[in-house]
Amino acid sequence: MKTRAAVMWEAGKHWEIVELELDPPKAGEVLVKFAASGMCRSDDHLRTGDLPSRYPIVGGHEGAGIVEAVGEGVFDIAPGDHIVCSFLPTCGKCRWCSTGHQNLCDLGALLLDGCLPDGTFRFHSGEQDLGGMCMLGTFSERATVSRNSVVKIDDDLPLDKAALVGCGVPTGWGSAVYSADVRPGDTVVIFGIGGVGINAVQGAKHAGARDIIAVDPVEFKRTKALEFGATHALATGEDAIMRAYEITNGVGADSAIVTVDVVDSAVIEHAFNSTRKLGTTVVVGLGPMADNTVQINGDILTLYQKTLKGSLFGSSNPMHDIKNILSLYKAGQYKLDELVTKTYSLDDINQGYEDMEAGVNLRGVIVY
Ligand SMILES: NC(=O)c1ccc[n+]([C@@H]2O[C@H](COP(=O)([O-])OP(=O)(O)OC[C@H]3O[C@@H](n4cnc5c(N)ncnc54)[C@H](O)[C@@H]3O)[C@@H](O)[C@H]2O)c1
Ligand SMILES: [Zn+2]
Ligand SMILES: [Zn+2]
Repeated sequence: MKTRAAVMWEAGKHWEIVELELDPPKAGEVLVKFAASGMCRSDDHLRTGDLPSRYPIVGGHEGAGIVEAVGEGVFDIAPGDHIVCSFLPTCGKCRWCSTGHQNLCDLGALLLDGCLPDGTFRFHSGEQDLGGMCMLGTFSERATVSRNSVVKIDDDLPLDKAALVGCGVPTGWGSAVYSADVRPGDTVVIFGIGGVGINAVQGAKHAGARDIIAVDPVEFKRTKALEFGATHALATGEDAIMRAYEITNGVGADSAIVTVDVVDSAVIEHAFNSTRKLGTTVVVGLGPMADNTVQINGDILTLYQKTLKGSLFGSSNPMHDIKNILSLYKAGQYKLDELVTKTYSLDDINQGYEDMEAGVNLRGVIVY
């Protein structure tokens, strides 16, 4: 069948909307008709080349939609089911899946090739095979994806909001709740209030943080952070460090979470320096893969017994946490609707990314 999709032909180009040929689902796969896709910064890293992938590639990894067909051997998902795609597939059997770290499933090795678990591709343009970002490709009207990449959700959930729970929401929320292990009374500093960071604010609030210091150079983001539960909003890392020590009697923050768009050594240093003895710095954001973006003072690391750690999908388990966060939303305890600043048609995707760059959206969402 045919589908219209946004393709990145090579790094440095813009998204191009093209008609592609899409294969029907093989064994263990499902055909999804997307209702919506969030525009995450990680897809923009395909454009800049910071995340080197197999080009050309269909973008998008934060989608929700309705299943139209299932391949052989798929017994627990049926046509008509509403689903959210997890940007990380979970096989359920590898060492990581079977020890409570589904986010680290070995299938993740294929994310940037964008092929299906059997190593082959479902999108085609003439003789050319195309992968989908994170083995998905949610910047397409339809995609054939692995059953391991979809989570069935309740039919009454709005798909244009649920889409965000495929990446930005659990990544941010889990970075505070799981990776930073925020405790009641904690002081947390969050660097970068975009689609991910705003959910770190929500996570820190859920976990009972007393002080949530949001850092972002963009005033709109600081205003939003305060609406979502931050107690302080500052424009620079230097100011955040000063504030963290001021409000903790000189002790420092319990944790710092880095959710900026492009990670560099300066923001890591600020985050690391804002934390106390035994404090934790969590790195969520990505940067140029070829660079060593993390540089810290090793003696301070040792003598203050600090922790510096990475966080993928907020250290969450996609099959549990996507449904868990949606249940919080249904119970009125999670702000999802408020995350969507503006919606776009697929044809306006480049405008959406320009708006991201201009800092005017918490999250822009493509609605099909
Ligand atoms: N680890 C994971 O599992 C995972 C998942 C999704 C996204 N990501 C990455 O997380 C990062 C954030 O994604 P997003 O979609 O929220 O991006 P975004 O562009 O929506 O938000 C980034 C924010 O950081 C702010 N910022 C930039 N430099 C800053 C600085 N020095 N100090 C403070 N704020 C600064 C920007 O103004 C912006 O508001 C990206 O690098 C993305 O690729 C990682
Ligand atoms: Zn993402
Ligand atoms: Zn696995």
